[in-house]
Amino acid sequence: MYQALYRTFRPETFEGILGQEHIVRILKNQISENTFGHAYLFCGTRGTGKTTVARILAKGVNCTADIADRPCGTCSNCIAIRDGVFIDVIEIDAASNTGVDNIRELRESVNYPPAVGRCKVYIIDEVHMLSTGAFNALLKTLEEPPKNIMFILATTEPQKLPATILSRCLRLDFRRISEKQMREGFREICSKLGFKISDSALGLIVANADGSVRDGLSILDQCISFGKDEIVKQDVLDILGTAGEEVFIEITDLVERNLIAEALLLLNRVLDDGKDVRQFMKDWIAHYRSLMITKFVKNPEDVLNVSLENVERIREQSNKIDLANINKCIMELSRTLNEAKWSTQPRILLEVCIVKLAFDGKPEIIEHKVETEKTIKTKKQKAPVQVKMDQKIDKEKIWRKVFEDGESDKGSMNFLRKGSRLKDIDEYSFYVEVANDIFMRYANDNCQLLESLMEKYTGRKLKMECILSPKLNEETQQKTIEDIAGELENRLGIDVEIE
Ligand SMILES: Nc1ncnc2c1ncn2[C@@H]1O[C@H](COP(=O)(O)OP(=O)(O)O)[C@@H](O)[C@H]1O
Ligand SMILES: [Mg+2]
Ligand SMILES: [Zn+2]
Repeated sequence: MYQALYRTFRPETFEGILGQEHIVRILKNQISENTFGHAYLFCGTRGTGKTTVARILAKGVNCTADIADRPCGTCSNCIAIRDGVFIDVIEIDAASNTGVDNIRELRESVNYPPAVGRCKVYIIDEVHMLSTGAFNALLKTLEEPPKNIMFILATTEPQKLPATILSRCLRLDFRRISEKQMREGFREICSKLGFKISDSALGLIVANADGSVRDGLSILDQCISFGKDEIVKQDVLDILGTAGEEVFIEITDLVERNLIAEALLLLNRVLDDGKDVRQFMKDWIAHYRSLMITKFVKNPEDVLNVSLENVERIREQSNKIDLANINKCIMELSRTLNEAKWSTQPRILLEVCIVKLAFDGKPEIIEHKVETEKTIKTKKQKAPVQVKMDQKIDKEKIWRKVFEDGESDKGSMNFLRKGSRLKDIDEYSFYVEVANDIFMRYANDNCQLLESLMEKYTGRKLKMECILSPKLNEETQQKTIEDIAGELENRLGIDVEIE
């Protein structure tokens, strides 16, 4: 059976670790001089070697070989740890065991000395996910660590850890691995596997790994299962699902011109084509970077990874957008990409980001938009009231509560609020009118949350039904124009009247 590369090529000793020289030096030293500590905190992005090094350290303190450079990787203890069957090395994934119980159990088991090894090692992965109770329990143990016990805590988000924990650990920060080091490491793997890949293809893989060996290996994995004799750059482009440069020129243009609907539709088309949404964000950021570089560099084609025919279009676009705006877009997209890493709904985050990019801080464009909208005379229209007045007030109130609930405090829900309305409630269902298919999707994506909040505020288990409402769509657009006008008044101090 085929084993994923990141499993096959998990280094067994310090020798195989790419980068992280600062960490390797400290740990090797501590192992050989027997001065290792009771508690370590490994911080850093995913796929940079935290778990791998934690296991190597666990081996190092339990290795029985009589050499200076422990671990040897071949003695029975090293082998048992590698296979995950050594009883004195205990791995806990806090992301799946957030309960205080596990740590309580741990607090008891901590009091027993190591059974076969020299040192009992607890590796707690994603430690920031522990509940407060579990943290407190862990803290007690860290305060008075029993003899021959070591804790290795690993996290991608050290800023979420209480200071009391931080202060009791030796903190080691794992860096992203440089492209050069990764390229060399991957070359070696490829030659071991007898797998041919061109330099530019490898370069593209490594550039896309963004410092994470794990991410790089998983792209390389896909290349290998591609089943070609030699992988070239175009294959990697296909595998990455990267959209062509033209798409980014176009969507940037739409956002710049505040054509939100068109931008969202374009995104829709690209993603329906099977492109990956996070990859899309990365590539879009890269496009803004190209725009920025083009502002400063004479021959950008030397620096940029884009085709010649697009260089001219990029130059043209770069001239049209000012630097501050480019910076803002890069920041906003990066933030969204970061959030998207942990979100199950990255697409919504990107859509909200697009809306934001198109609106934020561009009074001239907004003004222009209001002008054009004014000329096509959007009339303030109230939808005819179809339900009895007292019922209507109730529904509005419930709907408002749903959106003001702490649980719905996230981007996509704020957005949904603008284009939805509670139309009816019957015995089994509540009916939500949505302005258009974009809001329809927001509603469906948030279905579970909406149903549970409705249960909270009506006391009944109801199913959600969505109905498209052209009327609401009109009102929503009207509302958006009013919002923009209000914003204009705030920013520019002028009166905007909508006919
Ligand atoms: N610094 C590194 N050197 C060599 N391989 C690495 C490195 N970091 C990660 N890897 C590879 O990626 C896989 C996952 O790494 P892991 O240690 O689990 O990362 P983390 O715990 O930081 O998310 C490993 O099995 C290994 O193949
Ligand atoms: Mg890990
Ligand atoms: Zn050993």
